[in-house]
Amino acid sequence: MHKLNQILLLSTLVMVNSQVNAGPDKIGNFALIDHEGNFHQLRKYGDSKAVVIISTAVDCQENIERLPKYRLLRTTWERQGVTFLAINSTARDSREDIRRMDDLYNFDLPILLDSSQLVAESLGLTRAGEIIVLEPERFQVLYRGGLDIESRRARPERDIEAREGTSFLADTLQAVVAGVTSFGETVTVAGEGCELGFAALAQHADRTPDYATEIAPLLQEKCVSCHVEGGIAPFAMNSHMMVQGWSPMMKEVVMTKRMPPAQVDPAVNHFDNARYMDAGELQTLIHWIDAGSPRGESEVDPLTLITAPESVWELGEPDYIVEVPTFTIPATGVLDYENITINLSLEKDVWIKSVQHLPGDRRVLHHLLSFIVPADYEERIVEGENDSYREFLEGYAPGKDGAVTFPDNSGMFVPKGSAVQMSLHYTTYGKETVDNTLLGLYFAEAEPQFQYSTYSLSHGGSNLVIPAGVSEHKMSASHLFEDEIMLHGLRPHMHYRGKHMRFSVVYPDGSKADIINVPDYNFAWQPTYRLSEPMLLPAGSRVIVEGAFDNSQYNLGNPDPAAVVKGGAQSWDEMFIGYFSYYKTANN
Ligand code: HEC
Repeated sequence: MHKLNQILLLSTLVMVNSQVNAGPDKIGNFALIDHEGNFHQLRKYGDSKAVVIISTAVDCQENIERLPKYRLLRTTWERQGVTFLAINSTARDSREDIRRMDDLYNFDLPILLDSSQLVAESLGLTRAGEIIVLEPERFQVLYRGGLDIESRRARPERDIEAREGTSFLADTLQAVVAGVTSFGETVTVAGEGCELGFAALAQHADRTPDYATEIAPLLQEKCVSCHVEGGIAPFAMNSHMMVQGWSPMMKEVVMTKRMPPAQVDPAVNHFDNARYMDAGELQTLIHWIDAGSPRGESEVDPLTLITAPESVWELGEPDYIVEVPTFTIPATGVLDYENITINLSLEKDVWIKSVQHLPGDRRVLHHLLSFIVPADYEERIVEGENDSYREFLEGYAPGKDGAVTFPDNSGMFVPKGSAVQMSLHYTTYGKETVDNTLLGLYFAEAEPQFQYSTYSLSHGGSNLVIPAGVSEHKMSASHLFEDEIMLHGLRPHMHYRGKHMRFSVVYPDGSKADIINVPDYNFAWQPTYRLSEPMLLPAGSRVIVEGAFDNSQYNLGNPDPAAVVKGGAQSWDEMFIGYFSYYKTANN
């Protein structure tokens, strides 16, 4: 496009804006999952020339009537580098309703689920049917309004002149595709479609959520376990002052789903240790922050009353403490995995019921895996032979330092003469330090019925090659369980490029079920997710692990987007593993 045309075009855009006024010109980054459970973060669309978001609602007839026009819009602009997304920002439409609507009308777009309406509020959306055009690198709103078919006509009451054959939406897209980078203010054209209605916003505008009775208890439940004096988080939420100071940052990490960590897709099963925040909780916290994080009337500040737990051992003093030999970690360099075997010198057979790893120095202990092995393991193992002598006990990984108790009626059998084998991965951090890690074991009082075990389903080694720069490198693996099992715990494991992972099962009768969906995998958080309701998998069930790696620059954890990444043990190599923890119901 010629320079002159660009200038003309821009002046038209700005002119329109002066007539109608709604919503902000700049927005914050945000993340939502869509109706299929996939994760979308605005920043990750930085490669797109523009992101077009179409607001939808299940019962909005106007919305559905315009579908052919949305499709036309998309076919025109998508191949020129524009990304199209839909969003459902109603409080009433369930995920099932949205799926049904999609099946019926085939939107053929990811429909982002914004049931808390917080993203709609931040975008200034008010109606289903409205369209927003965003510039994804600077988070600028370029256009807000309808399909603006009618805006081609002159509307003297708004000083809008007729411009034959154009529309403001198309003008905007034309300009971004042509490489215009400076837009002045947002073009806003009168909206069309169905009112969304913002009940929570109205309620909170009437009465700001109260710090002492609503906010402090919420933070205590969702955040304070880590954000406490001496905790693993970088600041303690120990007073109103502190929280108020961190509020802008808190809003950002909540809106992008970075905090609380270890979130899973809430539509797939329920996990005791996944950290869920429902729409109401999100609205309460964000609306309070938007109101300036006020202290409220209450005299006591509940967060100042919180004290650190008395013992580092969550379940009290362990029955047996395994002391890992002291290891000195140099200031710099790459360390091989430390593999050590520690004889337990037990006088009788025992069953382990619970375990807790206590890292000596969290800054350097990256992760470790513990196994139960015979004390003469080293002599027994023959190079290259399948290792049938080891049984996985538990692991420590970032965010995974609580105690783990095996499910009712199960435990891990440890015969007299056993040892614990540990594989420890240390990373250097610029200073020499000494690590002194402990493993606490809690024994079962009576012999449990079932042996608890963990299967690691992996697809890695030489099969794993991720090209440089790709943002979605897919991978999968599957395994057939020959015995009936009761499934309890799941853990996806990848390294820095890990992007998302889901586990599902195909039952012997051919039917399928989802097991877990981690839409936004984060290397820093790898808990074993514990099913609130264990799943019984009949003999002959095939479990499937599917996921993807992001080796692009938009993965902020990526150490080198220019590297071709291969399978391997170091964090900058990759792994693709799904861990399944279970017991066999027949106990053989
Ligand atoms: C399981 C532990 C844990 C929980 C629960 C948790 N955090 Fe964090 N938080 C951390 C850790 C560790 C970090 C620093 C590393 C990181 O950013 O991932 C952090 C960092 C942060 C930061 C600073 C981010 C930055 O870039 O400096 C904010 C703000 C924050 N958390 C807010 C929250 C809020 C709000 C909640 C509750 C809704 C919460 N956190 C729950 C562990 C936790």
